[in-house]
Amino acid sequence: MGQKILFEKIHIPGIKTYDVYRENGGYASVEKALKMNPDDITEEVKTSGLRGRGGAGFPVGLKWSFIDKKSGNPRHLVCNADESEPGTFKDRYLMEYIPHLLIEGMITSSFALGANLSYIYIRGEYMWVFKTLERAIKEAYAAGWLGKNIKGSGYDLDLHVHCGGGAYICGEETALIESLEGKRGNPRIKPPFPAVKGLWQNPTVVNNVESIASVPWILLNSGEDYAKIGLGRSTGTKLFSVSGHVKKPGVYEIEMGMTVDEFMNSDEYCGGMIDDRPLKGLIPGGSSVPILPQHLIFKTANGEDRLMTYESLADGGFATGSSLGSGGFIVYNDTACIVRNTWNFSRFYHHESCGQCSPCREGTGWMEKILWRIENGQGTEEDIDVLWSIQAKIEGNTICPLGDAAAWPVAAAIRHFREEFEYHIRFPEKIKNRDHFVSEP
Ligand code: NAI
Ligand code: SF4
Repeated sequence: MGQKILFEKIHIPGIKTYDVYRENGGYASVEKALKMNPDDITEEVKTSGLRGRGGAGFPVGLKWSFIDKKSGNPRHLVCNADESEPGTFKDRYLMEYIPHLLIEGMITSSFALGANLSYIYIRGEYMWVFKTLERAIKEAYAAGWLGKNIKGSGYDLDLHVHCGGGAYICGEETALIESLEGKRGNPRIKPPFPAVKGLWQNPTVVNNVESIASVPWILLNSGEDYAKIGLGRSTGTKLFSVSGHVKKPGVYEIEMGMTVDEFMNSDEYCGGMIDDRPLKGLIPGGSSVPILPQHLIFKTANGEDRLMTYESLADGGFATGSSLGSGGFIVYNDTACIVRNTWNFSRFYHHESCGQCSPCREGTGWMEKILWRIENGQGTEEDIDVLWSIQAKIEGNTICPLGDAAAWPVAAAIRHFREEFEYHIRFPEKIKNRDHFVSEP
């Protein structure tokens, strides 16, 4: 069993409730933080090397240090709980089973930033989790951890949980801010980054649930202790949501640095392939990141062991690597149809595009249509080149990363599984029974 930071207490019966959480050491980091200089908390988080767990991996302490505290403007902490990346469900697990850990992290982090009004923005489909959080926040107010003059410290904090309407784009931090302000969730052009001009034009930090929930441990132990866990610049532990053709799908907390082989095949984690069928592909970080073909999953292109770290999963760039992304670990066996899967992702991104920029608005629709054609045995050889050209024209030419996220899975599928696209085009009659498609050499 590796080190557990986030899931250490998750299996204690009743840990969802304030009383049990408190009896088990809950809110101790707030007691400690309130006696500290807020800037020292930021320094501690910087030392920890904690990187944003939403997908981009931006250093959390560095982001906090961009907040201008001198101007005297109100500042905000917004927790991004709009977890919508296909294949990603780790934040839901944390919020559902140990909601007070997130609230504790929100208080210590808000105190470090000097924020007196903070928000948790949760996706609309997580209505029951929204209710769990509301209940927990009410308990925290009743126990004096939120509100005016918290525990006699002179520090005030109000915390609200806000439910989104179910749009994927509202997980993009500036769209989230627009939505929180009561507007349509259209991403803003960056810079300015939210740390400079965010909610109501005030300096705002937007952090993922898992990032914020890691802060209490860092404060109670130390940034240095956190940095000792993991490997290199991939410090600490990381949650992975595992789905697909493995024996034990679920949410796992691992110390970063173990091999992909161990994570996938040991009984403690994924337990190996279901029915012991051959492995075909892996998406290690949610639908937005490239799929890895079988020969690049356990070893990098250089023949080194592929590790569960930011660096190793990205090794080789997108030509032969992928990304840790949001930790949505999707495993495919040989019965999976990569064309159908890619079409399904394209359909999703087309549906979720906000429509502000034409490469994304039009390009995602074109990709969806062409992929549907190929999947249904009506594609032509030229379609593959047209698809390649569309994704290349979307990448890097849009306001927000949704465009890139739509382009990358298509590029990777063509790059690594081109023969499967060609197979669909050349042998349409063989793919009629799509549910049981098994790729043939
Ligand atoms: P990003 O790289 O643009 O930004 C990362 C963070 O660093 C942001 O908070 C940004 O404000 C901050 N930042 C970057 N440069 C800065 C600077 N110079 N000054 C101040 N702040 C700066 O990436 P973004 O858009 O936040 O996230 C994209 C990732 O999100 C994707 O790679 C994808 O994996 C992931 N994602 C996760 C989802 C989920 O459900 N968890 C859903 C969709 C995408
Ligand atoms: Fe909207 Fe897509 Fe442009 Fe993002 S990339 S702003 S989702 S149209």
